[in-house]
Amino acid sequence: VPEVRVRARAAQLHHTGAVAQRVRDAVAGRAVDPSAEPAGAPAGPRVDVLVEGETASVRVDATGEPADRRGWRLATARAPLPPTVAAAALLATGWDGTAPLLDPLCGSGTVGVEAALLAAARPPAVGRRFAVECWPSFAPGTWASAAAPPRPAAAPPAPVLLSDRDAGAVEAAEGNAARAGVADRVTVARAALASAADRAAGLPPGWLVTNPPWGDRLGGGDPRDLHAALGALVRGLDGWRVAVVAADPATARHVGLPLTTAWRTTVGGTRVALLVDAR
Ligand SMILES: C[S@@+](CC[C@H](N)C(=O)[O-])C[C@H]1O[C@@H](n2cnc3c(N)ncnc32)[C@H](O)[C@@H]1O
Repeated sequence: VPEVRVRARAAQLHHTGAVAQRVRDAVAGRAVDPSAEPAGAPAGPRVDVLVEGETASVRVDATGEPADRRGWRLATARAPLPPTVAAAALLATGWDGTAPLLDPLCGSGTVGVEAALLAAARPPAVGRRFAVECWPSFAPGTWASAAAPPRPAAAPPAPVLLSDRDAGAVEAAEGNAARAGVADRVTVARAALASAADRAAGLPPGWLVTNPPWGDRLGGGDPRDLHAALGALVRGLDGWRVAVVAADPATARHVGLPLTTAWRTTVGGTRVALLVDAR
């Protein structure tokens, strides 16, 4: 039996609960054999009904879980970034998976895990099930042929270096990297920002892509100082470039390097921008 969500606008059928029950009864009357559903398929489908005036539209959700639920991110530290936003940040820098990648404020490791997945050419959300897969009309053969052919992985794999001063964050990042199947491509250390440069010393130039805490609610001190320290770190690494996901561009300018805005979005209700090294 599907989950039915009903909204009504300027409609005589304003009792949404009764509408939902009719839809459920109608679907149950034609229910398919549940044993025919593929193993691991999401319980579904979800039906959205919108009644406007005398017209009702019925939509069946073909997707299921939101796209940012990648499956691997079960552990979170404070203020985690949606994996889709982390991936968008990496793609906007032009990072190709062959240069080193550093996130010295890694939290639960979202940027680093998405980087390792990109470098390994793993398609996003590989292994996830879509709601459409439990539709009676679902044709697995057609679905498989529509899937993109795998790209070759970047070889040799670039080092992805993550660190955070918080022990819980380090543990979460390690767990997430293992679940994502990229533990061999990611190294996580417990370290303060000031010592993160040591790990990158001697490597070829790469990218520092990070998401500093916005405001000082995570106890990181003055965020302007944190951004200034990030800038100093990058300037001390020959040829390295920086990208920050920032809620306040004025604060982010304290990295002291020319930055351009690559995109803007909203994270947990906060407007944020990706500021990318313009050098
Ligand atoms: C906004 S969170 C990063 C969230 C991460 N992108 C994720 O998706 O989970 C910022 C992180 O910076 C860390 N942090 C703040 N100041 C730091 C410092 N001076 N040195 C090292 N880590 C620091 C915090 O412990 C926190 O985990």
